[in-house]
Amino acid sequence: MAFSDLREFITMLEKSGDLVRIKKEVDWDMEVGAISRRVFEQAGPALLFEKIKDYPPGYAILNGPVATWRRVALALGLPPNSSVRQIYAAYEERRDKKIKPVVVKAAPCQENVMTGSEVDIYRLPAPMVHDGDGGRYVGTWDIVITKDPETGWINWGMYRFMTHTQNLLTGWPQATSQLAMMMKSRYLPLNRPMPIAIVAGCESLCHMVATDPFKPGENEVEYAGGLRGAPVDLVQCKTQDLMVPAHAEIVMEGEVLPDKIAHEGPFGEYPGYRSGTMSEGVLVQLTAITHRTNPILTLSTLGVPPDDSSIAASLTAAIAMKRGLQRRGVPVREVYVPPEGVTHLIVVSVERGGSRVARQVLDFFTARRVMVSKVIVVDKDLDPFDMNQVIHAFATKCHPAKGITVEHYEGRANALTPCFSADERRRLKGASVVFDATWPEDWEEESIPVKSSFETTYRDAVKEKVLANWESYGLGGKS
Ligand SMILES: Cc1cc2nc3c(=O)[nH]c(=O)nc-3n(C[C@H](O)[C@H](O)[C@H](O)COP(=O)(O)O)c2cc1C
Repeated sequence: MAFSDLREFITMLEKSGDLVRIKKEVDWDMEVGAISRRVFEQAGPALLFEKIKDYPPGYAILNGPVATWRRVALALGLPPNSSVRQIYAAYEERRDKKIKPVVVKAAPCQENVMTGSEVDIYRLPAPMVHDGDGGRYVGTWDIVITKDPETGWINWGMYRFMTHTQNLLTGWPQATSQLAMMMKSRYLPLNRPMPIAIVAGCESLCHMVATDPFKPGENEVEYAGGLRGAPVDLVQCKTQDLMVPAHAEIVMEGEVLPDKIAHEGPFGEYPGYRSGTMSEGVLVQLTAITHRTNPILTLSTLGVPPDDSSIAASLTAAIAMKRGLQRRGVPVREVYVPPEGVTHLIVVSVERGGSRVARQVLDFFTARRVMVSKVIVVDKDLDPFDMNQVIHAFATKCHPAKGITVEHYEGRANALTPCFSADERRRLKGASVVFDATWPEDWEEESIPVKSSFETTYRDAVKEKVLANWESYGLGGKS
């Protein structure tokens, strides 16, 4: 079932009609980005740009590997029309069947090797993604691998990286990311460089795991194996003490420098705005670039949803949030992260509602590594994946005074939240709000308004009669 590499996945996407090969020459300088954005905004296919201006034939860019639910389903080996709930369930179930990786000696990702003075990031077709970006981004849909020098724990994360010079990259891991926390707690105190590998072009499930907010100590490569139903082959980097997926298209090896920073950004960010500024990024000194022959650089042209970021985060954040709420004893039933809400709006359905539960939910969402600005809590009698039902509940059940609870904080807000002022974003000052769209716990059953729907207003005898006669009304086959 598992795709052995990105190329197998591309072949399958092409067969299912979910990928278009663009053979006409395109410019890495915004043309690739503009085409990709327009296609995302029409929920169109993945795009394989096969001829990039200034680059040898065969050097390609793949935009949007999992920017639709169909492509996520296909990556998981599910039928392409699987529902979002089915995709969530398959991801959650498979992920936990962890499979250990296998170490190999020779790897496709090391077919071509640049080290020392040969290292030149501009030999890869890093695009200028959006007009207004601070530079060319070589890392968007990547896997960034670092190691805790004390415990040996390996972190996989997805963080963007911009080209700075031919052997320097700059990135912007948020302060709450594992990369930033590892650098701050383990390497900076010793003034030691942190080995890093920035990997592009793996089969899609490995990248999805990199977006998943696992806790420190969790072995993400084993989760990727579980999701694939097959181990991930790993190979030793050429110049750093790190293991990378052998089937990757491109690996950028280097060190995060402890004593230097460099300008990074701005960038068209995942919430759908250029909500950040040029700021101080971490600086990576490249020590090697290895790649397959005819490398394919994976790209996600972030912006307004849907794109890989809003779709992948919908899946990985929802499962992490559900588990987190369960750990805190919240009677959570399901969590839905609508891609249109770019992880800034979450829907939580609960077994029993009321203001106490809404408060518990808010406490979880204001915890340091979660930090979501808007949460709607709904009762279990509605489908949280159906935004028609969610908006109906929000409009009718959330009391405009008593049903809204706000929590303010400073020093830990998400700096990319567009509705926070520039000053608030700089000071990481923000707020979260919970909209309680559940019935109050102290209302007697009789005082709860009866929902006026086919399911809830009619007696069973009437419903049964209508269903039994459905075809005879001339209303089609199945009732
Ligand atoms: C396309 C994409 C780009 C991302 N870029 C960044 C980034 O530059 N910095 C960051 O802190 N998080 C970024 N994220 C979010 C992280 O990948 C996510 O929070 C993940 O859990 C980080 O791994 P960690 O929990 O090991 O820190 C990005 C996510 C996606 C899908």
